[in-house]
Amino acid sequence: MYDYRGPMVLYAFAAALVQAARSVSAEPQPPGAVPGLPSAEPASPKIDVSGAHVFYGAHRVLENITLAVRPHAVTALIGPSGCGKSTFLRSLNRMNDIVPGARVEGSIRIDNQDIYAAAVDVVDLRRRVGMVFQKSNPFPKSIFDNVAYGLRINRMTRSRVELGGRVEASLKAAALWEEVRDRLHASALSLSGGQQQRLCIARALAVEPEILLMDEPASALDPIATQRIEELIYDLKSRYTIVIVTHNMQQAARVSDVTAFFWLGKLVESGRTDKIFTAPSEKLTEDYVTGRFG
Ligand SMILES: Nc1ncnc2c1ncn2[C@@H]1O[C@H](COP(=O)(O)OP(=O)(O)OP(=O)(O)O)[C@@H](O)[C@H]1O
Ligand SMILES: [Mg+2]
Repeated sequence: MYDYRGPMVLYAFAAALVQAARSVSAEPQPPGAVPGLPSAEPASPKIDVSGAHVFYGAHRVLENITLAVRPHAVTALIGPSGCGKSTFLRSLNRMNDIVPGARVEGSIRIDNQDIYAAAVDVVDLRRRVGMVFQKSNPFPKSIFDNVAYGLRINRMTRSRVELGGRVEASLKAAALWEEVRDRLHASALSLSGGQQQRLCIARALAVEPEILLMDEPASALDPIATQRIEELIYDLKSRYTIVIVTHNMQQAARVSDVTAFFWLGKLVESGRTDKIFTAPSEKLTEDYVTGRFG
């Protein structure tokens, strides 16, 4: 049954966003800046996707995608099921490499380096570009060992004390430390769903990524756990560049600075989140964000 409350809440929220947009839109912006984002940020994108196509075998699922992802900002990817959001996300750290027949054409650059160049160390790329999935996937190990995992296989610490310090810092960064500090050696599977998801975020943060890709990280969580993840995303963006896929329009509006709307394998438009939700350029975007389809 159609739930009319979502669009109504969204409209109320949109009205507040319009006001906020009006209050900042008059300010002059440096060239290349996204209005409303900190102007101290360098204008060059952290991730620069240009004319990218992604194929599974002969099937082209993403067509001619061009998107510049700002550093230290949250970029939300929205769009109906099957439009290619997860495929796009996986193309940013070459997770699609492990899918037989998957192929990327065009240019995807991180810090101006082509991540599909032959010389790229894919293991190092995935350390720099961490990923958190819809369904939390802790290893059947202790809480400590989950977070320590990447540090150990990458030989990133020199002593047990340093390892312990890094695990603690990662759990703190993922806002989980207070809840688990007394049971670090308990199984990760004994945690609640929301705690498991924060553990997976801690595991991703432990290896010091620069970019965090999150594929519907809160879709399986209750509203309180969802709120904790959203607050965490907000806190993390000062240190990381975050790209998040979400089906929840209010969540996209709350957590992101920039929103990109995908539809049938194409990027319809991207821009400042308040603009996308209140004054999008494309009718298709407006129909989607107001719940008229999808
Ligand atoms: N491993 C795969 N092999 C072949 N086709 C795939 C594979 N993964 C995804 N696809 C196809 O690519 C298209 C985009 O899928 P993708 O999972 O990226 O969409 P999505 O926007 O993330 O959808 P959802 O919102 O349901 O998660 C779909 O048509 C899907 O069937
Ligand atoms: Mg998906």
